[in-house]
Amino acid sequence: MAPIKAALLGFGTVGQGVYEALKTHREQLQAVLGEEVVIEGILVKDGSKKREVDDHVLITTDFDEILNIDGLEVVFEAIVGEEPGFTYLSRALDKGCHVITANKVMFARHGRTLLDKAEALDRYVGYEATTAGGTPIIRSISQLLQVNEIYSVEAILNGTSNFILTNMREKGLPFHEVLKSAQKLGYAEADPASDIEGYDAFYKLMILSELSFGETPKWEDVERKGITEVTAEQISVFKDWGYKVKHLARIRRDRDQFISSVKPMLVDADYPLYGVEDVQNAIMVETSLAGKVTVQGAGAGKLPTASAMVEDLTYVLQPHSLRRKKNSASISEEGSTEDTNST
Ligand code: NAP
Ligand code: HSE
Repeated sequence: MAPIKAALLGFGTVGQGVYEALKTHREQLQAVLGEEVVIEGILVKDGSKKREVDDHVLITTDFDEILNIDGLEVVFEAIVGEEPGFTYLSRALDKGCHVITANKVMFARHGRTLLDKAEALDRYVGYEATTAGGTPIIRSISQLLQVNEIYSVEAILNGTSNFILTNMREKGLPFHEVLKSAQKLGYAEADPASDIEGYDAFYKLMILSELSFGETPKWEDVERKGITEVTAEQISVFKDWGYKVKHLARIRRDRDQFISSVKPMLVDADYPLYGVEDVQNAIMVETSLAGKVTVQGAGAGKLPTASAMVEDLTYVLQPHSLRRKKNSASISEEGSTEDTNST
């Protein structure tokens, strides 16, 4: 059987994680998908860096070379910033590929456009990895929404901030030392200001809002604050009193109004997310039928994030998937992916 041809945009922490996961879990994936998944090309920014990949893999700084890979079916995106990620994924959809992204900045801004485009073209956009790393929150909310109405979402959504707050409280370590560890471990963003100033959690909350409510509040109406003003002294005093500081992202829809914030808050031991430590994320969703549902797991890092992206791949490319059948039929009829949109 012909392998499933895929490309990676970005080969940093996440891109390397996807490459590794596809290799280490090759047999499991082949059992699920019926065919092997092969990375044929990787787009990077700096073409001069040495990359540890198989000889056949095209390494390029030119996105057109990626799109021209014969029979390309899937594009994984793990680069930084709104652009060029949005343009690349739009073009990949137009070309007939399914796309899977970890880029929350891009997806918070352009996710709706990509989802609408994909639907019109009968393609798939996977974005599990944009929010809470390896924690399957997108899939969980999508499933709950089949019957439930969602009233609110309350969550720890930034692994780096939670890692810093935990280590300051439990080990007495200084803020900047823990931030450096988070960077070394691959948790932090390329510009860690996004983590510690609350933007990263804000983008994720907007993605969850769009999914849960079909809309977001006006972005400028959401109170957003990071953890940079939380001091070691405050954390120590609160600890003596039995409290923790947690960076919480919260949104509730009340009739047509949103109440929403992203900021550090004091919580006591009765609070359900009190025990969520280190790089863990947790999301509590309040629903009309299922009550409160909480999902918890690794919120950042190479392999948990790769897991989310590869799970998206299995979701769309399992043999029973209609999209997969249409795509394959069209590839064999046309001899290329050029005209798969017409299926
Ligand atoms: P990273 O380690 O900084 O890697 C970024 C990669 O993207 C690098 O390979 C870089 O190329 C490439 N790149 C950047 N700009 C590019 C451009 N304009 N054209 C082509 N390639 C470009 O970042 P990361 O941690 O893997 O994160 C990647 C994405 O996943 C980000 O959007 C991030 O928010 C998201 N994410 C990260 C995590 C995590 O735990 N790290 C979790 C979930 C989601 P060079 O190698 O040539 O520099
Ligand atoms: N920098 C992000 C975090 C990566 O620390 O949560 C996962 O999205």
